[in-house]
Amino acid sequence: MTRPKIFITRIIPDLGLNLVKEHYLPDIWTHDLPPSRDELIARSRGVDGLLCLLTEKADGELMDAIGPQLKVISNMAVGVDNIDVPAATARGIPVGNTPGVLTDATADQAFALMLSAARRIVEADRFLKAGKWVTWHPSLLLGADFAGSTLGIVGFGRIGQAVAKRAQGFDMRVLYHSPNAPPAYGAQPVDMDTLLRESDFVSVHVPLKPETKHLVNAEFLSKMKPNAVLVNTARGGVLDQNALYHALKSNQIFAAALDVTDPEPLSLDSPLLELENCIIVPHLGSASKKTRDMMSLLAAQNLVAGLKGERLPNCVNPEVYKASS
Ligand code: DGY
Repeated sequence: MTRPKIFITRIIPDLGLNLVKEHYLPDIWTHDLPPSRDELIARSRGVDGLLCLLTEKADGELMDAIGPQLKVISNMAVGVDNIDVPAATARGIPVGNTPGVLTDATADQAFALMLSAARRIVEADRFLKAGKWVTWHPSLLLGADFAGSTLGIVGFGRIGQAVAKRAQGFDMRVLYHSPNAPPAYGAQPVDMDTLLRESDFVSVHVPLKPETKHLVNAEFLSKMKPNAVLVNTARGGVLDQNALYHALKSNQIFAAALDVTDPEPLSLDSPLLELENCIIVPHLGSASKKTRDMMSLLAAQNLVAGLKGERLPNCVNPEVYKASS
């Protein structure tokens, strides 16, 4: 029997990598920067299993270039917007992701950003380091209160709920908008207009899909309160950055904090970078050591299961199994 071929598109944490190496001899992209499109196609051609990151676009063209022997695509991320899942399903290829293990880290990041934007932490740090701190002053760098404020969560899946759980500890009233999601952690379901009208903080937790592209647009922002803070730890494409720039520049809303942008990395020409009331960090929602270890493990488990012809422990297109059973 020939040994299955595998391409892993970056050096992932040892916890996952060692599991793959126990079974196989993977080809690994060892550079810090992702492979270019041509390099991705060239290195993946003929593999049985692909383990990729959210920086790689796995579309039908790539799947066809790889060939009909491809048994599994394992994404080391919970979001799979970089993968054309219907194209994989049409070819009978299961796609794996890494849900659950990054819920707390991402909710922590949303909360950290919310606090930082509300209390102007980044601006205050820059102020101090620029030598501008001359005395304590009653109106120096005033921000927004958490206790007694209202948090609106858009998308009430695992991460949205974990944010609601944290908000309880801050004595916040929590609203959410998410079709069919039952209430949890004292959060109250409302329509989107109510959420935007009543929330002092709006945190976005929806996957990027055609129907959520630019969900946060000029109209959405115009319905928010002037004191409101917007936080996005979901995907950059969910937000119209041009509309956000105008809303922040004209003080239509108080502040924004973004963990994700479109594109990534954000161009240094982006006008958002000029704004004092906009915090932007480089897609770090899941960036804790333990979380990344666990993501690598889940990604490796999906890869190994797919190569063995077993059901992936975390499969985003389980309908591929119905077709063959
Ligand atoms: C994911 O897993 O989708 C996250 O965005 C990675 O941080």
